[in-house]
Amino acid sequence: MTATIINGREIAKEIRSKITMDVQQLKKKYQKEPLVITIVIGENLSSELYLKLRNTACIEVGITSEILRFDANVSEATILQTIQDLNNDPSVHGIFIQYPVAPHLSVNKLMQCVAAKKDVEGFNPENLGRTLVGDEVLVPCTPLSVLTILQHEQIQLQGKDVVIVNHSNIVGKPLAALLLNRNATVSIAHVFTKNLKAYSSNADILITGAGVKNLITKDHIKNKAIVVDVGIIETKDGVCGDVDFESVKEKAAVITPVPGGVGPVTIACALSNMVKTYQKCVEDK
Ligand SMILES: NC(=O)c1ccc[n+]([C@@H]2O[C@H](COP(=O)([O-])OP(=O)(O)OC[C@H]3O[C@@H](n4cnc5c(N)ncnc54)[C@H](OP(=O)(O)O)[C@@H]3O)[C@@H](O)[C@H]2O)c1
Repeated sequence: MTATIINGREIAKEIRSKITMDVQQLKKKYQKEPLVITIVIGENLSSELYLKLRNTACIEVGITSEILRFDANVSEATILQTIQDLNNDPSVHGIFIQYPVAPHLSVNKLMQCVAAKKDVEGFNPENLGRTLVGDEVLVPCTPLSVLTILQHEQIQLQGKDVVIVNHSNIVGKPLAALLLNRNATVSIAHVFTKNLKAYSSNADILITGAGVKNLITKDHIKNKAIVVDVGIIETKDGVCGDVDFESVKEKAAVITPVPGGVGPVTIACALSNMVKTYQKCVEDK
C-alpha cells in the first residue's frame, strides 16, 4: 500500500491564513507595523530562493520584511555592531541572519548577539535553553516545522522510537529536544554513526536532514514508518530530499515529499515566530 503523502503547501496555507488574521488584529491593537530585518552576507543561490519565498509570505500576511546586504568579506565587528543597532531600534521587531555565513564569521557569536525577544529563528542561547527545558517560546523554525507536520497529521509521539539523521544546532539538536519534551525515545544519527540502517530501520518515525540524495532507501525504514524528509538538495533535475521517495513511499505509512513537504511549513513557522517577536517587542516582554 502506498503511503499517505503529506501536503506541506496545504498545511502552510492553513497556518498563513491564521497568521494573516492575527497580524491584522495585532496591528489594530498596537498601531505599529511589524518589521523584520534579514541580514544577508555574501551571495548564495539557495539562500536567495528561500529569501524570495519568505519575503512573499511576509507580504501575504502583512509583515514588512527588509534585507540588509553585506559583502562576503565583511568584518565580524561590522555584523555584530549591526545586530546591536537592530536590537536597540524600537521599530524593528525581528531579526534573521541568513545562514550559511562566510567561514570567517562565528555563527555562535552572531546567534548570541541577537536579542532574545527579536530572535525569530530561536537560536539565541536563552531561547535554545528554554526549548531544551520544555519552556518552548521561540523555537527554531525547521524543527518547529517538523513538529507542526507531525501534530497536524495527529501522529502520536509519546513512547515512539524516533531517529533523526542530523545533529546540527539548527535542525537535529533542537528537534530532539522538542520530541523528548513530548516523551518520544530519540536517537540522533550523523556522519560518524557506524551503522545508520541499524537505527533507521527500527524507527517508528524517521526524520532525515543530511542533505544527501538517496541516503534513505526502502531498506533503511521499517514497514509503515513515518518518514519526514528535511533535506534539500539541488540537482540538475530540480530539488530533491534525502529520501528515495519512489521506493520509500511503497513501504512507509506517511511520507513528506521534497519539494512541497517540510520547506513551505518552515516558512510558515518563521512567520509564526515573527508574530511572537512582534508581540514580545511591543509588549516589552
Ligand atoms: N526543509 C527545510 O525547511 C530546511 C531547513 C533547513 C535546512 N534544510 C536542509 O536540511 C539539510 C540539513 O541542513 P543543516 O543546515 O542542518 O546542514 P548540516 O549542518 O550540514 O547538517 C547535516 C547533518 O547531516 C549529517 N550527515 C551528513 N551526511 C550524512 C550521512 N551520509 N549519513 C548520516 N548523516 C549525515 C551531518 O553529520 P556531520 O555534521 O557529522 O557531518 C549533520 O548532522 C540540508 O539539506 C538543508 O538544505 C531544510
